[in-house]
Parts: sequence; structure tokens; C-alpha cells
Amino acid sequence: MRAPSSDLPIAFDNVTVASRSVTILNGITLSINAGMPTVLIGPNGSGKTTLLRTAMGLVAPVSGRVTWGGREFAAPTRRAIMFQRPTMLRRSAAANIRYALKAAKIPRASHDSRIAELLALVDLNGLGDRPARRMSGGEQQRLALARALACDPAVLFLDEPTASLDPAATKAMEDVVRTVTDRGIKVVMSTHDLGEARRLAGDIVLLHRGQIVETGEATAFFNSPQTGEAKKFLAGELLV
Ligand SMILES: Nc1ncnc2c1ncn2[C@@H]1O[C@H](COP(=O)(O)OP(=O)(O)O)[C@@H](O)[C@H]1O
Ligand SMILES: [Mg+2]
Repeated sequence: MRAPSSDLPIAFDNVTVASRSVTILNGITLSINAGMPTVLIGPNGSGKTTLLRTAMGLVAPVSGRVTWGGREFAAPTRRAIMFQRPTMLRRSAAANIRYALKAAKIPRASHDSRIAELLALVDLNGLGDRPARRMSGGEQQRLALARALACDPAVLFLDEPTASLDPAATKAMEDVVRTVTDRGIKVVMSTHDLGEARRLAGDIVLLHRGQIVETGEATAFFNSPQTGEAKKFLAGELLV
């Protein structure tokens, strides 16, 4: 795995994203830096997925700009995204990873060793021959993560990676997030689970209606939220 990347920081400068006349993100200014995971929280529809897709370079702002390590257009091969409901090919776990290695143009000679390494990394040792679609939800989610890691990204975007997983599968996924972070990969993720945000985040971005309500170092955010909205959200009240 690579060292921390020159794709960082990912800097949003007054970014607005819209679809037709609907504003989805509104004047986002944010710097995503190397280190512990950056975790996006906020109610459904607040813009978490759109912010991840914009940071990945999949969505273009209508105004403002996003830069990666100071550059406006960076090679997309250094970034990977795992969507909320990944679909597995109707093949073995190993074949799913092999497909991603091919797509990332990794030399064929190293595929077998990379597949073994990636399966181990996501705690699926020995399950390479298992039909991917027969695996449990948690295993499929970790396999999707292995696939995302096939291109050896420096930045990994995860959209609600533990939504709909049971506690054991959630813990396994969170362990993998820690492992990839230890290896120098920057994780940027969304979650609806405040406990998970507390356990994993280096910094927090709280979104509401396409705007950043509050952002900062995670411990400070949880111990002494500054805004009324953040206090409400942490107290489990609905933000409307
Ligand atoms: N392509 C799109 N076209 C129109 N509206 C969209 C599109 N993508 C997202 N939205 C809207 O933007 C808002 C934010 O969506 P999203 O980023 O998915 O939020 P979250 O992930 O926090 O639930 C929602 O109201 C959603 O319906
Ligand atoms: Mg979402």
C-alpha cells in the first residue's frame, strides 16, 4: 500500500452542486486532510452522498471548485469509492477482486498475490472460492471494500458502509477501516450511526440541507458542540 498521498488535502472552496434548479450542496468550504477518517453525519437527504461523490470527482460543482493536492484535475486512479449498496458479480469472491484488478490495469502476474493480500486485509482469508452472492451481507460489504482497494487508492470514500449490518459485521467493517487508515489510506465516509462516528472519526462534518452546520476535530465536536443544530442532533432530536 502507498504512503499518504499528494491528492490531499481535498479542498472545497465555496462549492455548490445542483441538479436542474434544485440546490443539493450549498456553499461548501471544507478541507479534507491526511490522518484519521473524516466522517460525514447528518439527516437523510442532507447531502452526505453528494458530498462524497463530489470529493471523488464524480459530480461537478455548478460554482466554486474542488482541488486535490492543489490541482483541479487529478488522476482518478488514486481514489476509490464504495457505494451504499454494492453489487457483486455472479462469480467467486476472488473473481470479483480480479475483475477490479484488471479494471485498474494491475499487471496480471501480480493478481493472485494481490487477491490473497486484499482478502486478508478485509478479513476474508480463505473465502476466495466462495460465490460472492452467497456470502453474508457483512462479507459482501467487505468484499466490496477489497474491490475498491484493488486500485491501491490513497483516498477511500465509503458511503454508509455499515448501514443494514448487524453488530458483529459492523465491528468487522470498522476494524477494516482502522486497518486501512493505519496503512496510510485516507478514509472519507458517511454514517447514520453516531456511535460509529465517535469510534472512527478524526474529524466530523455535520451536514443539514446541503450546508455544513458544524465541522471540526471529533473529540471537540462530541464534547462541546458549538451550534444549536449540532447539540440537537447529538441529543437525538430531529433536524428539520
Ligand atoms: N441527481 C439528483 N437529482 C436531484 N436531486 C438529487 C440528486 N441527488 C441527490 N438529490 C437530492 O439531494 C438531497 C441530498 O441527497 P444525498 O446527497 O443523497 O443526501 P444523504 O446522502 O445525506 O441522504 C436529497 O434531497 C436528494 O433527494
Ligand atoms: Mg446517502
